[in-house]
Formats: sequence, C-alpha cells, structure tokens
Amino acid sequence: MSGQAVAVAHPNVALSKYWGKKPGQGNFPAVPSLSVTLAGLQTRTRVRWGAAAHRVVLGGRELEPAESARARALLDRVRDASGQQQHAEVESKNDFPTSSGLASSASGFAALALAAVRSAGLDWDASKVSDLARSASASAARSVFGGFVELPVDEASARPLAPVSRLPLVVLVCVTTEAPKAVGSTDGMRVTMERSPYAKAWLEQAPRMHEQLREALLAGDFARVGELSEASALAMHASAIAAGIVYWNGATIAALAAVRQMRAAGTPAYATIDAGPHVKVLVHPGDAARARETMKSVPGVSRVLEARPGDGARLEASS
Ligand code: DP6
Repeated sequence: MSGQAVAVAHPNVALSKYWGKKPGQGNFPAVPSLSVTLAGLQTRTRVRWGAAAHRVVLGGRELEPAESARARALLDRVRDASGQQQHAEVESKNDFPTSSGLASSASGFAALALAAVRSAGLDWDASKVSDLARSASASAARSVFGGFVELPVDEASARPLAPVSRLPLVVLVCVTTEAPKAVGSTDGMRVTMERSPYAKAWLEQAPRMHEQLREALLAGDFARVGELSEASALAMHASAIAAGIVYWNGATIAALAAVRQMRAAGTPAYATIDAGPHVKVLVHPGDAARARETMKSVPGVSRVLEARPGDGARLEASS
C-alpha cells in the first residue's frame, strides 16, 4: 500500500498560554490554553509513503535525524495504526519566515498530522488528528481547527470554541530579531517547572485566567480578552524568567511599552509574547493600520506582519 496527501495548516497564537507539561509520557499540557488560528501564513506539507526509511525535507533542506525525531515518531504512530508497510517521505514548506516568531511547529505538525493520516488511508476525524499533532507539539493540536480554539487539560485533543466572527481582531506580529531562539519551548518549560520558584503559582493561576478569558471571548468582550491575554503572557514569562529562561530582548520591552502607551492614549491594544522575543499586538481591525505604523517606529522592531483569524488545517490533495 502506498499513498500520498498534501495538507495546509496555519500557525496560531495562544491568548491563554500553555507552559508546562503533565508529568510522564505523551506530551500532555499541565494547563489549558486558548488560541486563535491565523490566516495568511501557512505550512504546506506533502507525505508520500513508499520509502525504506522516513525522510523529512523542510524548506528544501533534509533534516538531520535529531531534528526530525518528533516528525518520525508521529509517522511511526500513523504507520502502526494503518498497517502501512512502507516509510514516508515528507516535504514541508512555510510561506512565512520561520524566524518571524510565529509558531512554525504548530502549523508544521498540524499539516504533517493531517497529511500523514490521510495518505495512509486512515479516516480519523479532526479530533484524532489533533491528538496526534499534540503528541508531537501541544500547540499544534490547536492549529488543526480554525477560529478560536481551546486545548483543555482533561482531553487529548483541542476543540473549536468560537468562530472567527465572535471577536473581530487583527494580530500584529512585531519582529524584533531575525536570529533563531536560543532555548526551544520544550526545554524552556521543562527548566521553568524544575527551577522556577513561581512554577507552582503559574500552574495554579493559569487555569483561572483561562476560564476568565474563555468567558470574555464567548461574550465578545475585546478589552477583557486583551487584558487577560496580556496578563497570561506576562505571568508565563515571569515564571520562566525566575528560572533564568529569558526570551525577551530590549526591543521586546520597548514594544511592550509602546502597546501600553497606545492603550493609555485610548487605543485598545494588548500585547502577547510567546517563547521568543517578538511581540504580538491584538487590536480592533479598524485600529490596525495606525497601530502598525506605531509599532514599526519602535526601536529594534525590524518589521510588522499583519494576521487575521483564519481556518484550520485542510487537505489539498490525496491519492
Ligand atoms: C509559549 O507547543 O511549542 O507558544 O509541546 O513542547 O512542542 P511542545 O511546546 P509548544 O509550546 C508552545 C508554548 C507557547 C504557548 C502556547 O502556544 O500555548
């Protein structure tokens, strides 16, 4: 049996952050998270069964075995479940710079999971595909779905929470460096849990913030969603910083200050920051153009990408 499929997925940005895993195997998050999937930026992945060993090519470069370990583990799971005898060849491409600070692992593993499952002839639903993506990278579970998406702690997969129309929103991605990050999120959260004096506080606080954010989102309350998103990011980084995991640079602080200044001057703008130095600004669509100009002028911000809420992973072709 051999087959192939092409899938497309988009990155997502977490409004309430996942940081920390449950003890044990399986890559289960210790706290719930809520994200918005972004349109306009995408990963396109082709999986073709028929090789003697798994091969993964990303952006035209074949990955070293250590770099492709998570992808190969995902492919092995699909191989076992489908009875596929062959191994897979994977070709994946991002249409956005991987250093843009948008989670390329989220869109990458969501597209890989969908293409791998369909090319192997499995008719798994989106929830099972999301579970598979989560086992490789938890944030990827959310990119399987579009709009506003929740990854609860008591379930293996993410689930859609609200459509794009629930909260009109633009996400401005303020790029503060082109260098790849020094510490990946898996290591960053492990060190935080092991060494941060505030890890326990984060683990207690995150589910509360998540619940509040969920309610604010379902009520369509932009200001409250923004406030809680900023608070979740700052609490996550505070716990990481206390363990010596500092993702920020000078421009991160300057961008954060610019967002707070905009807010003080009457524009509802809120910041969120992932495991890197870039700042993502949440604004009303009507304020996006002006806010973008403001953020472009922040010293150290090299460019500002504009993203809107979008759809989940989809199949482009299969045979
Ligand atoms: C800060 O999903 O990249 O972006 O499961 O170890 O692959 P692994 O971690 P990953 O962590 C994302 C962390 C975050 C917050 C979030 O997306 O919720």
